[in-house]
Amino acid sequence: MATVSFKNVCKNFGDQEVVKNLNLEIEDQEFIVLVGPSGCGKSTSLRMLAGLEEITSGDILIGDTKVNDMEPKDRDIAMVFQNYALYPHMNVYDNMAFGLKLRKHSASEIERQVNEAATILGIEHLLERKPKELSGGQRQRVAIGRAIVREPKVFLMDEPLSNLDAKLRVQMRAELAKLHQKLKTTCIYVTHDQTEAMTMGDRIVVMKDGVVQQVASPSELYNSPNNIFVAGFIGSPAMNFIDCKVKQHNGQTYLVNEDGFSYLIDNQLADYNDKEVVFGIRPEDISYDTTDTPKENCQQVRVDVVENLGAETLLYVSFGEQSVVCRFMGAPKHSVGNNINIALNPNRYYIFDKETGNSLLK
Ligand SMILES: Nc1ncnc2c1ncn2[C@@H]1O[C@H](COP(=O)(O)OP(=O)(O)O)[C@@H](O)[C@H]1O
Ligand SMILES: [Mg+2]
Repeated sequence: MATVSFKNVCKNFGDQEVVKNLNLEIEDQEFIVLVGPSGCGKSTSLRMLAGLEEITSGDILIGDTKVNDMEPKDRDIAMVFQNYALYPHMNVYDNMAFGLKLRKHSASEIERQVNEAATILGIEHLLERKPKELSGGQRQRVAIGRAIVREPKVFLMDEPLSNLDAKLRVQMRAELAKLHQKLKTTCIYVTHDQTEAMTMGDRIVVMKDGVVQQVASPSELYNSPNNIFVAGFIGSPAMNFIDCKVKQHNGQTYLVNEDGFSYLIDNQLADYNDKEVVFGIRPEDISYDTTDTPKENCQQVRVDVVENLGAETLLYVSFGEQSVVCRFMGAPKHSVGNNINIALNPNRYYIFDKETGNSLLK
């Protein structure tokens, strides 16, 4: 078990800066998720920690030991990839035992470790089978088993569920979370999928273009995003964004735009009077307005698309040039073409600087 520290870590490929000044302190036994769009530097960060990629500058520590120049095999790390290649001619037992044999563990020790891992993963009955006789999920479990038997200080997982179908992915997600509770090994998990990040991480590191945008717990990321990128990346359907201007009127502050949008806020934003900002609201913070008289923070909209998901309904609505997604519990109450009033929760809004994208409410 161990802590992991990235200190001012940079990585360049030629003149392309792929990871920019990564600083991260990962606690012992923590399950931390690196998430971000494809190409943002997640795998490169993991590969530097594993020793598969050289660091351009900065330091990486495992526990108190600086590992910059340590051989991968000496780092006491096990890694599971998306494309876990099992040896096709070996059965499950031998696939899992292979790394231990290379490391010259004794036969009895290998047997103990493989059996223990197989029990944890529920694949004891598959030990004699060859990979081609396994389902995708079973093969993925063997690949994880191969990492577990090493009893490493740190687990690295790089999109390990990406090759599985949607249902199996959800199931394996829960299994990996349980596995982590059992093993209590520090775990760094990479995914481009915000749902995976939100459901699995103790903490989440959101990256974009090689730069960390925010490091926080799932609920903090969801409730208090640092900037418009994090706000739009975390949550599905994504947060709605509406370009508008700050206007003071009768001592109150409104956000308004030419589509007829008008939203009263309880924040002065004095420095921003007459300036452009981006208003944000999540689909779940919008409700039907059933009162007859128009109220503050309500908006008349036209229903464009209705998605009935059974337990909930997504309504794609618009006013002027602006489109908005709303999420309501239960079956749809409206059809395409209807004009309805929606109420935007006056207490659950976000405002971002139009230029920097930074949250103005922090
Ligand atoms: N060996 C390499 N040589 C040159 N560029 C690379 C190499 N590996 C990755 N890159 C580039 O670095 C960037 C980050 O890649 P990567 O860390 O794999 O992203 P992610 O895992 O977040 O999708 C990408 O632009 C990618 O093309
Ligand atoms: Mg990757």
